[in-house]
Amino acid sequence: MSVHPGQETWSKEDICAHLGDDYDRFLGAIVPPIFQNSLFTRKTVNHGYTYTRVTNPTTEIAETKIAALEEGEEAKCFASGMAAITSTLMSVLEQGSHVLCPRSVYTPTRAFLENYMPRFGVEATFVESESVEAFERAIRPNTKVILLESPVSNLFTLQDLAQLAGLARAHNLTTIIDNTWATPMYQNPIRLGIDLVVHSASKYMGGHSDIVGGVVVGRKETLTEIMHRERGLFGAIMDPHQSWLLLRGLRTLPLRMRQHQESGMKVAKFLEEHPAVERVFYPGLQSHPQFELGRKQMSGYSGLMSFVPKGSVEQIRAFIKQLSFFEEGPSWGGFESLINSPGVGISEEASSLTGIPSGLVRISVGLEKAETLIDDLDRGLFAMKA
Ligand SMILES: Cc1ncc(COP(=O)(O)O)c(C=O)c1O
Repeated sequence: MSVHPGQETWSKEDICAHLGDDYDRFLGAIVPPIFQNSLFTRKTVNHGYTYTRVTNPTTEIAETKIAALEEGEEAKCFASGMAAITSTLMSVLEQGSHVLCPRSVYTPTRAFLENYMPRFGVEATFVESESVEAFERAIRPNTKVILLESPVSNLFTLQDLAQLAGLARAHNLTTIIDNTWATPMYQNPIRLGIDLVVHSASKYMGGHSDIVGGVVVGRKETLTEIMHRERGLFGAIMDPHQSWLLLRGLRTLPLRMRQHQESGMKVAKFLEEHPAVERVFYPGLQSHPQFELGRKQMSGYSGLMSFVPKGSVEQIRAFIKQLSFFEEGPSWGGFESLINSPGVGISEEASSLTGIPSGLVRISVGLEKAETLIDDLDRGLFAMKA
């Protein structure tokens, strides 16, 4: 229940700041409390809550905001992005099903499909995902799901969401997308016909590198089923404290994303012009081969990108080590700038399997001043050339 009227016309900024406010229910507290309890007794009052493994009021406020941001009927929060992805896949797949997926999808997602699901007879085909025809050609009689990640979070290639949603409908397949990179601020796949949207809330939604979490958005009926079945049975719900921190992150999501976009664009343009950089992968650059598709299906860009410096493996490793403002680490989407090196020292086999070129480094542009980050990268690249 909301204290604000007319909320169907709210902007994303309004949703992030206020949707789910209920001052009467929470004694006027401007920030809702953390319901840090496992069970809800009902001898004297029955609010419909039973046990925090099923639902929790603090978690529900985060779910209300995220469902509205994604323009879905309902959202359910999970203990991690991977819990959200694997539970959603398990909710749709049956023994012997087949899944289609971009070949450079997030590595643990690929590992789940490639190494874990075969024990249930589930098969996956990893597709050259820029081409809708490649998906169409790979459909089999037992195909159940098209799992997307657009942009993929290492090479930043896109999938055509509207066309793939149409293809899936024609073949009675369920579409799921990992929308972590663009966030609901800049891409709303349900509007384009995608069935289910998953996020790692550990990235931009949380925004402060202090939580691990996930969320799934979609139709009410599907989400209620996932809540009782996969989330309830696997015990995969986000805990109340994590949900409260997620709420705090969501309040500033629009503001942070604007800054990540502005700085991300400046850094990408700087890298593109730099003589010590071979190639930049960022959908916001006009030189990106799918720039027009990106403009059609996204309304903005986040701050995660990759590039290949011109140098040996040792030179690239030294470049990473001597940066002052980019800590080395695998995550992204927080206030801090990060660098990691998925293509540095990669084997030829892994490179041809995933499409990740040798020497690829990935940076998450944080909330520091863009010029500070550019100076840092410039110094590092200059030193590498010397
Ligand atoms: C694109 C993408 N999807 C999903 C995940 C998994 O999220 P979590 O770490 O919250 O389980 C990650 C984490 O790095 C990711 O980068």
